[in-house]
Amino acid sequence: MALYRSPKQRFARFIFAITSLVLGIEENCYARTTTEVYSAKVDVCPQNQTEWQEASRRLNCSDDAKSPVNKYHCLPVHNLTSLLEFCYSGHRPQVVKGLCLTYVQEINNLDSYNCTTFDDGCPDTLYHSDETYKFPKCTEIDPFNLCYVADSSCRKNTTVNETSTSKTTQKSTDNKIAIFVSTSVVLSLGAVICIVTTVVIKRRKCNSIKGKGLIECCVTVKARKGVEMPLLNVANITRLGLNYLLERLPTDEESILEIAKTLNVPPEIVRWSKDNKQRFVKSMEKGTKPVYNGRGMVIGCAEAGKTTLVKKLKGENNLSTTSTTSTIGIDIHVHEFKLDAEECTIISK
Ligand SMILES: *[C@@H]1O[C@H](CO)[C@@H](O)[C@H](O)[C@H]1NC(C)=O
Ligand SMILES: *[C@@H]1O[C@H](CO)[C@@H](O)[C@H](O)[C@H]1NC(C)=O
Ligand SMILES: *[C@@H]1O[C@H](CO)[C@@H](O)[C@H](O)[C@H]1NC(C)=O
Ligand SMILES: *[C@@H]1O[C@H](CO)[C@@H](O)[C@H](O)[C@H]1NC(C)=O
Ligand SMILES: *[C@@H]1O[C@H](CO)[C@@H](O)[C@H](O)[C@H]1NC(C)=O
Ligand SMILES: *[C@@H]1O[C@H](CO)[C@@H](O)[C@H](O)[C@H]1NC(C)=O
Repeated sequence: MALYRSPKQRFARFIFAITSLVLGIEENCYARTTTEVYSAKVDVCPQNQTEWQEASRRLNCSDDAKSPVNKYHCLPVHNLTSLLEFCYSGHRPQVVKGLCLTYVQEINNLDSYNCTTFDDGCPDTLYHSDETYKFPKCTEIDPFNLCYVADSSCRKNTTVNETSTSKTTQKSTDNKIAIFVSTSVVLSLGAVICIVTTVVIKRRKCNSIKGKGLIECCVTVKARKGVEMPLLNVANITRLGLNYLLERLPTDEESILEIAKTLNVPPEIVRWSKDNKQRFVKSMEKGTKPVYNGRGMVIGCAEAGKTTLVKKLKGENNLSTTSTTSTIGIDIHVHEFKLDAEECTIISK
């Protein structure tokens, strides 16, 4: 363990580690994705049409007003960890009101997020996916809590505790340098705290186990940590039922799957935050009903009446074509209906 002998050398190592962390972030900012679609991380999406067009030109996206393909997009990635700008190689879809869009980078596809929970700024009209500058709340994310800033549950928790985190969050819209600096500050702080803790623990452990090597010492520390984790308790699961979700749960994958299986819930729910799990358990107490999701696509010649057909299926009364503008690209419609007891027939819209 020669490297750890002198404190000076150890310090040098920390600095090196922090520097490479910071460099790692910079490098990632302009990475090409696996699908070879050029995309770049941004801190803020363009806020108005002028900025949007400028960004579109910068990325060489299509500026042909008639073409719905290869348009500039700036969207959160689907897990809300960052914002990406890219020319979307597919058709830009039309999006119904009440939905924000996210980008699933792995498959180069767009996904939707139901934003009716937003305080304000949730799209209230039909819009094209490349016009999100009209709805800035759809691109204002909190990358630390992985939520939209406009979601009230998201904002509350960013402002309460963890001063360094909330500072970073508030500034995230300001400018690139600010976020870069604060990210590195947070990271460095995190790294230092982490290292200091490890060193302290190691030192304490190692002092008490004189003569043993560092590796053995680390194993001891790890094993000790393992004991502190709550263990899977099958008897408790059957006794508490869904309320078991509100206990302190083991975090290893195997236990999560076991809990999910025993409780007959998707494993994602076991991984949810305590708050969300509480909400889930509370609503499950009120009863359950199966919900089925299906997707359909209507394809046909121009002016054939596809939009009118969909309107009819949705039970709309005003089918006059004068009010229906021709669809460019793709419309996404969402519709809910009830099924009869046998779950075969639609009984109401
Ligand atoms: C767009 O935003 C930029 C910077 O925020 C501003 O300078 C510009 O005047 C805005 N353009 C329009 C058309 O509002
Ligand atoms: C856009 O095109 C210009 C000129 O063809 C080129 O220099 C630039 O690298 C391109 N930008 C991107 C992001 O592909
Ligand atoms: C969003 O969710 C709300 C409530 O869950 C629902 O009423 C609404 O239809 C949904 N909107 C869309 C576009 O799916
Ligand atoms: C979020 O998604 C991006 C790509 O879509 C992925 O690289 C990243 O690891 C994901 N992060 C988390 C925390 O899931
Ligand atoms: C915030 O911190 C205080 C003390 O620092 C603590 O008592 C409180 O429980 C924390 N609140 C949250 C929401 O973590
Ligand atoms: C936000 O913080 C409050 C106060 O501690 C907590 O009760 C709530 O569960 C948190 N919400 C989320 C979404 O984490």
